[in-house]
Amino acid sequence: MEFLSTTLARVKPSPTIAVTTKAAELKAAGRDIIGLGAGEPDFDTPQNIKDAAVAAITAGKTKYTAVDGIPELKQAICDKLHRDNGLSYTPSQVSVGTGGKQILYNALMATLNEGDEVVIPAPYWVSYPDMVLLAGGEPVIAEASLQTGFKLTADQLEAVITDKTKWLIFNSPSNPTGAGYTWDELKALTDVLMRHPHVWVMTDDMYEHLVYDDFKFCTPAQVEPRLYERTLTVNGVSKAYAMTGWRIGYAAGPEQLIGAMRKVQSQSTSNPCSVSQWAAVEALNGTQDFIAPNNEMFARRRDLVVKMLNEAEGIRCPVPDGAFYVYPSIAGLIGKTSAAGTLIDTDEAFATALLEETGVAVVFGAAFGLSPNFRVSYATSDAALTEACSRIQTFCAKLT
Ligand SMILES: Cc1ncc(COP(=O)(O)O)c(C=O)c1O
Repeated sequence: MEFLSTTLARVKPSPTIAVTTKAAELKAAGRDIIGLGAGEPDFDTPQNIKDAAVAAITAGKTKYTAVDGIPELKQAICDKLHRDNGLSYTPSQVSVGTGGKQILYNALMATLNEGDEVVIPAPYWVSYPDMVLLAGGEPVIAEASLQTGFKLTADQLEAVITDKTKWLIFNSPSNPTGAGYTWDELKALTDVLMRHPHVWVMTDDMYEHLVYDDFKFCTPAQVEPRLYERTLTVNGVSKAYAMTGWRIGYAAGPEQLIGAMRKVQSQSTSNPCSVSQWAAVEALNGTQDFIAPNNEMFARRRDLVVKMLNEAEGIRCPVPDGAFYVYPSIAGLIGKTSAAGTLIDTDEAFATALLEETGVAVVFGAAFGLSPNFRVSYATSDAALTEACSRIQTFCAKLT
């Protein structure tokens, strides 16, 4: 008898966490490492949010709470969805979990039966396919290309939908590409979904507030109100409020689904951290003033990285609309050999050689389902980004 679960055997550990761990190990061993793998802002949680958490502790709000969130946070979420997205929800349609990750996982656990298919546009956030597998479903990958700015077209979506499709997982702005769907591009996808009434959409809006230039964020239930009844709108405070460690994510959707997700959470983790929930109330209800200056900083870093990477021989880097990632193509480098003699036959070989020979840690594209590419997180200082990109330029120039 196998001791470990056969379901778990279908799943791989997170490659992004693996890269971050390897970079940390090399750094601890004394190597000069620049990590461009992390998926979190490099600034601190705003003071008003920290103060709200301290006040919650002082007031003794340190006990179990309702399984899927305190009423004050659920109300703040309803207000936010109305204010920012024009969506009307009541607190009974809202679920709060330990990060966006748990919310997505709960939703998949609550809905997937054996053989159910989940359409995942690639490049995708690394966890989607493995979460689907853990929940007993089948990920169906629909590849978007560099030519369409890494965005799925209506025809591509139409082509992968079958009788077994239960969900489309949608993520804009995207991790790993930073690509954001315009209203019209999203409408083309929701039009397809309107022709397939058995397909639901799980929209991961985690990077909603991290958008640059004139890009306008939009979300499926807003673009196509008739999809409201089969949309789960997922969001969280991790990225925009620099609260990755606090672990608060949330979703709004039909009450029956929210109830099923509550059941999963009630038998696994119970409520998310009480203190973090009070901090999240302040994040959503308090000042949003720091978001615009932070975005200016991120946009500047994005421009710096895109420019320097496009100057590197064999790299093509599109300009993304949001998040804090770029996803350059290294198609022009495949088949070359590094200065230390490594054949760059895959993007994984590229990332490994880059780390070993220059100390720059990036995540290889195969982890996100589209190769040959790599992901750079530019949520780090201008100085580190400049140095890292210049090392990448030198590395590429020495390839033969
Ligand atoms: C697209 C996307 N969704 C969800 C998450 C998970 O967010 P959280 O830290 O709130 O679990 C991340 C985090 O990297 C992400 O990039």
